[in-house]
Amino acid sequence: MKSAVVLLAGWLALTAYYVYLPLPSTVSESWYLMVLDAFFRLAQQSCNLAHSMGLGHHIRLLNVFIHNLESLTSLPAEHVKITDTTFDGVAVRVYQPFAESQKTLRRSLIYIHGGGWALLSAKSGYYNNLCMVMADSLDAVIVSIDYRLLPDFHFPTQYDDVLQATKHFLLPDVLAQYSVDPTRIAISGDSAGGNLAAAVCQEISQEDNMTNRFKLQALIYPVLQSFDFNTPSYQQNKLSPILTRFLMVEYWVEYFNGNYDFVQPMLMNNHTSLDVSKASSVRDRLDWTFLLPSRFRKNYQPITHTTGKAEIIQNIPALLDVRAGPLLADKAVLRLLPKTYIMTCEIDVLRDDGLMYAKRLEKAGVEVTIDHFEDCFHGCMLFTVWPINFSSGFHTRDHYIKWLNENL
Ligand SMILES: *[C@@H]1O[C@H](CO)[C@@H](O)[C@H](O)[C@H]1NC(C)=O
Ligand SMILES: *[C@@H]1O[C@H](CO)[C@@H](O)[C@H](O)[C@H]1NC(C)=O
Ligand SMILES: *[C@@H]1O[C@H](CO)[C@@H](O)[C@H](O)[C@H]1NC(C)=O
Repeated sequence: MKSAVVLLAGWLALTAYYVYLPLPSTVSESWYLMVLDAFFRLAQQSCNLAHSMGLGHHIRLLNVFIHNLESLTSLPAEHVKITDTTFDGVAVRVYQPFAESQKTLRRSLIYIHGGGWALLSAKSGYYNNLCMVMADSLDAVIVSIDYRLLPDFHFPTQYDDVLQATKHFLLPDVLAQYSVDPTRIAISGDSAGGNLAAAVCQEISQEDNMTNRFKLQALIYPVLQSFDFNTPSYQQNKLSPILTRFLMVEYWVEYFNGNYDFVQPMLMNNHTSLDVSKASSVRDRLDWTFLLPSRFRKNYQPITHTTGKAEIIQNIPALLDVRAGPLLADKAVLRLLPKTYIMTCEIDVLRDDGLMYAKRLEKAGVEVTIDHFEDCFHGCMLFTVWPINFSSGFHTRDHYIKWLNENL
């Protein structure tokens, strides 16, 4: 009896230790977030263990797990017609509001889901729900792109898929088929989807033979660079919920089909040390000592070594490819971009990716709205369906949709 009590107490203490995370006092629903994060960590660690036992790739296992969990959450389609089809060979899901006024042309938005270029899909319950809500509340045609995923496909497949489907949709006869107004189209995405949206928007803006271009881009806590993993937000949030710094770097390496041994040196910025000459031409494009206001810099110091591991960039030249890191683009490219919305969350390693991009766009003359949420965390906008429903999910989603409604 006594030993059972001791065991139970020990088990409770271990659980509490596993679940407890020091979070800033500003974060809302913090216990709920800790439980969600512990659950994600447990799922990831189980998949990593299974991977090391040869039972399958950890990403593929995690995706199967998330998929099964997610299938519990899909909401019925209301007011919206959903069609699964392909655009130039790329799978897409199209959401059209039920026609009442089919004579008028509708606004439209291309949505690119997040999940580290690896997880989830346009069909997952949470994204499906987001796109249904957008189609309905904006009375807009939403195209959600099911680009191919890690670990079976690596960069630039994800980018190429999104670009190909996007170009197909922008063709005049395709827009006409969906009754879309060619002058009122946006591109948007969250996290890794924000990365793809930003990169594809740069490409579409530069091509001189496009009949139609974007009126807006809206990037939700986007991933924008793999150059500096020690920005203030990376330092401050390296153990923050949902997306730790280690996990982000691991997914970058996986995106480039690189060697996992590079993760540790990259965490220290050793892939972009001063002796890596290839990195020098873009270094000032993410110099956060002048791109970030002091309230975000706090007292964090840049991590720049004189010598590092030049072989990393030699092995993964894509680390400096703007199609993967749109924050590294030339100012001449940024100038061509449409009006932009960027959402950032305080509890997010990627906060400064978004803030730096906003600053560079502003300097290039682009009109930018930064929507910064002090009490929110990476990924929150998706979490609006029970059992993962946070008030920050509804709050951020409302702001995003309101901005689109006023600007699209
Ligand atoms: C449009 O321009 C891009 C390069 O900017 C080129 O790759 C593509 O083939 C062109 N497409 C057509 C239809 O001319
Ligand atoms: C990164 O580079 C620094 C400076 O050269 C070195 O001290 C450190 O051991 C390196 N770290 C890794 C993980 O490679
Ligand atoms: C989440 O969903 C549950 C069950 O529908 C509800 O009781 C709760 O209030 C919701 N929480 C938020 C923040 O919306």
